[in-house]
Amino acid sequence: MGDFRVELGPNAHPAHVGAGALDRLGELARGAGLKPGRAAIVTDAIVAPLYADRAARALAAAGFAPAIVIVAAGEASKSLATLAELYDRFAAAGLDRSSAVFALGGGVVGDLAGFAAATWMRGIAVAQIPTTMLAQVDSALGGKTGINHPAAKNLIGAFHQPRLIVADVATLTTLPDRAFREGLAEVIKYGAIMDAPMITALETAMPAILRRDPATLAAIVERSLRHKAAVVQSDEREGGLRKILNFGHTVGHALEASAGYGGLLHGEAVAIGMGAATALSRAYANLPEADADRLLALIASAGLATRLPVGARGAAFERALKLDKKRAGAGVEFVLIDRLGHALTRTLGFDEIIAALA
Ligand SMILES: NC(=O)c1ccc[n+]([C@@H]2O[C@H](COP(=O)([O-])OP(=O)(O)OC[C@H]3O[C@@H](n4cnc5c(N)ncnc54)[C@H](O)[C@@H]3O)[C@@H](O)[C@H]2O)c1
Ligand SMILES: [Zn+2]
Repeated sequence: MGDFRVELGPNAHPAHVGAGALDRLGELARGAGLKPGRAAIVTDAIVAPLYADRAARALAAAGFAPAIVIVAAGEASKSLATLAELYDRFAAAGLDRSSAVFALGGGVVGDLAGFAAATWMRGIAVAQIPTTMLAQVDSALGGKTGINHPAAKNLIGAFHQPRLIVADVATLTTLPDRAFREGLAEVIKYGAIMDAPMITALETAMPAILRRDPATLAAIVERSLRHKAAVVQSDEREGGLRKILNFGHTVGHALEASAGYGGLLHGEAVAIGMGAATALSRAYANLPEADADRLLALIASAGLATRLPVGARGAAFERALKLDKKRAGAGVEFVLIDRLGHALTRTLGFDEIIAALA
């Protein structure tokens, strides 16, 4: 099993990646200094029947007494109403300052349960137990928690670092194919922005990844998570370096936000965004053609599209791009790569972006 520490000063914590780690959750929680006793497992209605009992048994064996709190699956649970339900359940379960919350599920559960833990009694311990590819390689690490507001996603939130991350890659075998593949967009992203040898490794390993071979999954999840840790460690609150994680996300977010394209999953939109960022990197960062071709082929080999759907460059998409929160003056601060494994940022004019997308 791949074990490492996320070095965040007073918020330093262990991360464990491996097949079967869920059954060691109790001992791992004790090892991370979580206090046995009252606890809550927060999970969703799809993950609960698959993994909640195993998590609860592992915790009980180590002296925890977890209440299992189940929310509806899906983004709509990142709401004030669901948050209020969690507080009610925490109160009923008698969670106090020394209790821990175990967030078992995808990024929705991680963000929601993390925020509930951040605010319950001014902050109690949370352990992130991610069960989607996206959550294992991205959202479980970094301490961003929160819920959505009708005006926009993730408007209400807090930084609250987990005390422990346990990524059991065996849980990825029950993910629907589309959800599994979209998570690979974030994996490829780490290679593109900071690890050229990882691109080569992914090219070789893609068949085993798509077969969901546990050892291969453990290797790529650990490598991805270590990269996220490296970036977050150097830039915990997103001042500078952490921005490079937005590679593919400027266009990706605009695609997700623009009306009529709600059918795209986040990772699918990011894959198309990486396609656009690759074209812009060719035009404005001297990315060699061979590097661009390899990156696009790798994304395609994961079963992800790299081009905008026909008609997607409509007014709604352009409005969404203009609204991007990282806009700088007349342009957008864009993450580009000048070679595989190396990112930089450039402020690009709006017309330059639209032209490159054509
Ligand atoms: N905090 C951060 O830094 C950060 C980063 C990126 C994304 N996010 C957030 O993450 C959320 C998206 O996360 P997600 O893609 O994991 O979505 P999700 O949590 O909605 O999970 C996707 C679907 O997969 C199901 N599922 C989860 N694990 C499963 C398993 N092992 N087997 C079968 N089904 C399973 C879930 O029930 C859900 O229906 C968004 O709300 C986004 O804002 C947060
Ligand atoms: Zn993302």
